[in-house]
Formats: sequence, C-alpha cells, structure tokens
Amino acid sequence: MDRQSISLDERIIFALDVPGQESAKDLVKRLEGEIRFFKVGLQLFLAAGFPLVEWIEERGHRVMLDLKFYDIPRTVELACEQLNGKNITFATVHGHRSILEAAVKGARDYSVLAVTVLTSLGKDELREMDSPLSMEELVSKRAEFARAAGCQGVVCSALEARAVRRVIGDDMFIVTPGIRPSGLFGADDDQKRIQTPYKAIKDGADFLVMGRPISMSKRPEETVNSVRKEVARALSEKKAKN
Ligand code: C5P
Repeated sequence: MDRQSISLDERIIFALDVPGQESAKDLVKRLEGEIRFFKVGLQLFLAAGFPLVEWIEERGHRVMLDLKFYDIPRTVELACEQLNGKNITFATVHGHRSILEAAVKGARDYSVLAVTVLTSLGKDELREMDSPLSMEELVSKRAEFARAAGCQGVVCSALEARAVRRVIGDDMFIVTPGIRPSGLFGADDDQKRIQTPYKAIKDGADFLVMGRPISMSKRPEETVNSVRKEVARALSEKKAKN
C-alpha cells in the first residue's frame, strides 16, 4: 500500500474496542459497507486473538494490530517476528529509537507504525514526564526516529500532522487517532489532542482512527457517512490545490 492509492473506504480505521469476538463481528458486519479497515487493540486481541484477525481479513478488510509494543529491543524484535505471515497491514510500536529499529528488523510483511505521543496525553502529562520539549517538538523528534529507523508511518495527533509531515516527507503514512467529528467534542473525553476529520486530512493525515464517535453514535452508519463526506471534501480540496 502507498499513500497515493488509499481508497475512501480505507481512510477511516474503525477501532474495535469491544470485549469479545461476538460484538466485534457484529460491528464489522454493520459497518463493512463503508469501512474496510479495522483496528484490533489490546482488549479485543486478548479476548479473541489471531482467529478474529483472520476472520476480518477473510472478509477482504485490512487490519491494524494496535498492541503498542514497548519493551527491550530484542523482545520487541521477536514479538514483531511473530506478526509476520498474519496478513496484517499495520502494527504499532512505541516511538523510542532502539525499539523502533528492533521492530523494523523483525517485521517483514507488514508496516510498522511508531506511536509518537499518545493522543490522551496533554500538557500536564508532558510536565510529569519532565520533558523540556513542547508537545510538537517531542512528537516531531519521535517522528524523526521513526523515519531514521525505517518505519512506514507514525501515529500522532492531527494537531501535529503538519509538523510531522515536514519531518517524515511524502512517503510515510500519518495515522491520527483523537478524531472528533465537528460538533462532537465532549468535555469528559479522555482524548486531549483532538481534531475534526476534515482538518486532520487537510493537515496531512492519511488515516483517521475512530472508535467512540462511531460506536457510541445513535446512528453509526450516518456518522460514518458524514465523516466520509468530510474526508472526501478535504481530499478534493487538497487535490485541487496541487
Ligand atoms: O475514537 P476513540 O477515542 O474511541 O479511539 C480511541 C482508539 O484510538 C483506542 O483504540 C486507542 O487505543 C487508539 N489510540 C489512541 N492514541 C494513540 C494510538 C491509538 O487513542 N496514540
């Protein structure tokens, strides 16, 4: 897969944040008319594992396996080797230089995405980490590690997408969680660095990871539809500009 050939059906990566395969399969069947890319994270993978990943792939969809590996390099390399031959498209690894290099060594038939700084972390958490860098600087630094290590993409907030694009160039993917459709920004949200689908794509995101705005919607199909329209509008405006 390359950045020029992503179809509209693949632009939204739906986060299957559910406790088991039954609810996951229901959601896939409900949304697969308009979404062809699904994210399996820790909760679901621990419950349903590779059989569910395969089930999704056999229906012709892509899978982002979001286990966010974070361990000593050799352990991450060996864990990444375990994901070869599973037909996944993306796997995630935390964005520290030595860990990313190890992940890229282990991954042969899928793309490694570097998680820069979780979108649930804001200024307060940055202070707790004693980082002298601003959020944008820290995200950009980790994006540079990702590029140097040979990762195929990064996960960051859409708020940092422009800065990240400057660092990683035109070939790598930008995947952005923390997406909230216009009018759906809630005060009690655990995501801190959020953006609308339109603005995220305009600023350089290739894929939007979305969970709750769709799963909690009274009419998920309608929500997906309106997000797709926002994405299509942003893409056509970008195309007209180039
Ligand atoms: O749209 P919603 O907030 O429900 O999506 C949350 C999903 O995005 C979760 O599955 C979470 O693991 C994932 N995610 C994130 N921040 C990252 C990477 C992934 O929130 N940096």
